[in-house]
Amino acid sequence: MTYFVHPNSYIFVAQHGTDITQAARLLREGQLVAIPTETVYGLAGNAMDEQAVGRIFSVKNRPSFDPLIVHVASVERILPLVSDFPDTGRELASLYMPGPLTLLLPKSREVSDFVTAGSQRVAVRIPRHPLTLELLETLDFPLAAPSANPFGYISPTTAAHVERQLGHALPYILDGGSCEVGIESTIIGWGDSGQVVVYRKGGMSIEEIENVAGPVKVMPHSSSRPDAPGMLASHYAPSAPVLLGDLKELAKEYAGQRIGVISFREGVDGIPEERQVILSKVGDYAEAARRLFAGMRELDALGLEGILAELLPEEGLGRAINDRLRRAAATGETTEF
Ligand code: TXA
Ligand code: MG
Repeated sequence: MTYFVHPNSYIFVAQHGTDITQAARLLREGQLVAIPTETVYGLAGNAMDEQAVGRIFSVKNRPSFDPLIVHVASVERILPLVSDFPDTGRELASLYMPGPLTLLLPKSREVSDFVTAGSQRVAVRIPRHPLTLELLETLDFPLAAPSANPFGYISPTTAAHVERQLGHALPYILDGGSCEVGIESTIIGWGDSGQVVVYRKGGMSIEEIENVAGPVKVMPHSSSRPDAPGMLASHYAPSAPVLLGDLKELAKEYAGQRIGVISFREGVDGIPEERQVILSKVGDYAEAARRLFAGMRELDALGLEGILAELLPEEGLGRAINDRLRRAAATGETTEF
């Protein structure tokens, strides 16, 4: 174990750094390594090693019915994992992969039922982070990786976030800095008619997908009988309740309570600055996405009675941000993105 002080003064317990050789060695031994991606950090293990995959489920405390995304370095490396690859999928892959897009495709026999939780479809993705791409190129197996947070909590967007929650259980965190996109990948599959179906809104906007694949169907979240595990409505903590609405009105209603605020462009008068997260003063959706999860964590660390939040316009990445805010505010079955 190495102990040293991170710039934010947090003491790291897990070893962490940018040593791809060490990360590759650990992964070849069947151990787990946290990896940076452009979306969020992943908790990675050898997707072809059932013991390593089992370890991912147990470290994350994730139910075994919730399948894992398989990460590879290139489109060529997707081919052996799938038994069909629709033309629109190939087109999207050539334009947007590496990038924040995950494809749900019929799996080949190479992929174990363990990774897909028994589903005949496998989720594949090429992350756009130089360290992780180099790591994946070095390895001769793909990496199964869910977001590197305990099940039901906010996804990590820095190595320090990973360390705080899973550091004790990990031999190595590959530190790639702050995630450039900041929310999870967009997950798409194909319906019987060949239409693209969006299962999770994420870092790639629906507009960009529709430009290539035509009108898509967006699956609603459901708290009962979901068709795919990623679709449950989520109550995933912050531990303080998240309340959505008009910020000025909410602030009046909750005056006198210790509340925090997540706003898009402008703060709310009368609430201390340190309890306010303004996602993007210039109204840039990409900046807002990048700041969202870290902002939620900052507020959550303050031990507030409630977090007031407002929705963004329903366009571009605003839609994925709103999805995360709504899930943070939802009560019901615990799941995650
Ligand atoms: O951006 C991301 O996608 C990040 C980074 C680390 O790649 N990963 C991520 O993984 O968000 P995770 O496991 O936290 O979320 C993946 C979602 C889950 O809701 C899971 O149920 C769904 O994808 N999923 C994975 N494989 C699936 C499959 N074969 N069929 C249906 N849903 C699947
Ligand atoms: Mg997750």
